[in-house]
Amino acid sequence: MRAMVNNAEGEILRALRASGDYVSGEALSAELGVSRVCIWKHIRSLVRHGYVIKPSSRGYHLVSAPDLLLPCEFPGWEQKICHFWELDSTMRVAKALAKRGAEEGTIVVAESQSRGRGRLGREWSSPVGGIYCTVILRPKINPAYAPRISLMASVAVARTIRRLFGLPAELKWPNDVLIGGKKVCGILAEMEAEMDEVDFVNLGIGINVNCSISQQRATSLRDELGTDVSRKEVLSAVLAEIQRQQGMLTRDDLLGEWKELSATLGREVTVVSLGEEIAGKAIDVDTNGALIVKCRDGSLTRVLAGDCLHL
Ligand code: BTN
Repeated sequence: MRAMVNNAEGEILRALRASGDYVSGEALSAELGVSRVCIWKHIRSLVRHGYVIKPSSRGYHLVSAPDLLLPCEFPGWEQKICHFWELDSTMRVAKALAKRGAEEGTIVVAESQSRGRGRLGREWSSPVGGIYCTVILRPKINPAYAPRISLMASVAVARTIRRLFGLPAELKWPNDVLIGGKKVCGILAEMEAEMDEVDFVNLGIGINVNCSISQQRATSLRDELGTDVSRKEVLSAVLAEIQRQQGMLTRDDLLGEWKELSATLGREVTVVSLGEEIAGKAIDVDTNGALIVKCRDGSLTRVLAGDCLHL
């Protein structure tokens, strides 16, 4: 079910947070240009979503807020965020929206997924506490550049984790984010395009935040830090990074940033691509994000997509 939290509620939260004290119903109704009854209804709806708001004769006081990814928590992005309590997969909903013409930057967010999808047909475990979103992008680029979009997103997530928490996030080709060799974030991109023009690229991002994933080579931010962190803060920072990086899609500095954060380059790897196994040393990524592997016989192989194992 989709959460019915709207801009008015975002405005109310903004006003309550800015004041840090009680704000009268009268002041809120003047600020938002709606009746006091309307304000009261919005307050009641916020309380239903888990916000603790103390009413008194002086007005309303925000005591605490839940860590939900509701649109009202993302000032400036409210109109773009489609929030759901649970979905099978944000990829499915984003695809339907993109096909119906949803605008660039539309973001489908779910608090949990029942059939989260990973790369290569795998399942993505999506319990409550993680971040699951798909961003609809309509980049004006040649489809050949599209693989760079997921590289860009992995750079955005790794940079965010490093900046907010000081954790040594690294990248495994093509776009896994690892901490200490364990996966904390996966990225799945789906594209629809003509020969020379992209219609949309749906960028699915799954980050293990305040949840524990019972897979051997997986971790979460909570597992690494020993405490819960704000998912709102993580998602806002990732979205801002993606916005910043988007302008770099056709520039080679993007690859430079990916290489700096890479845990793959310089390592012995095995890559399974289209049923074929390529073993050797990962030496570079080319302009389209393909991995260059120096095989044991000295030949160079260019791998466009596949599953990479660090040896
Ligand atoms: C991977 O296999 O590494 C990619 C995982 C991508 C998971 C995200 S969660 C949000 C979006 N919805 C999905 O069903 N999958 C992606």
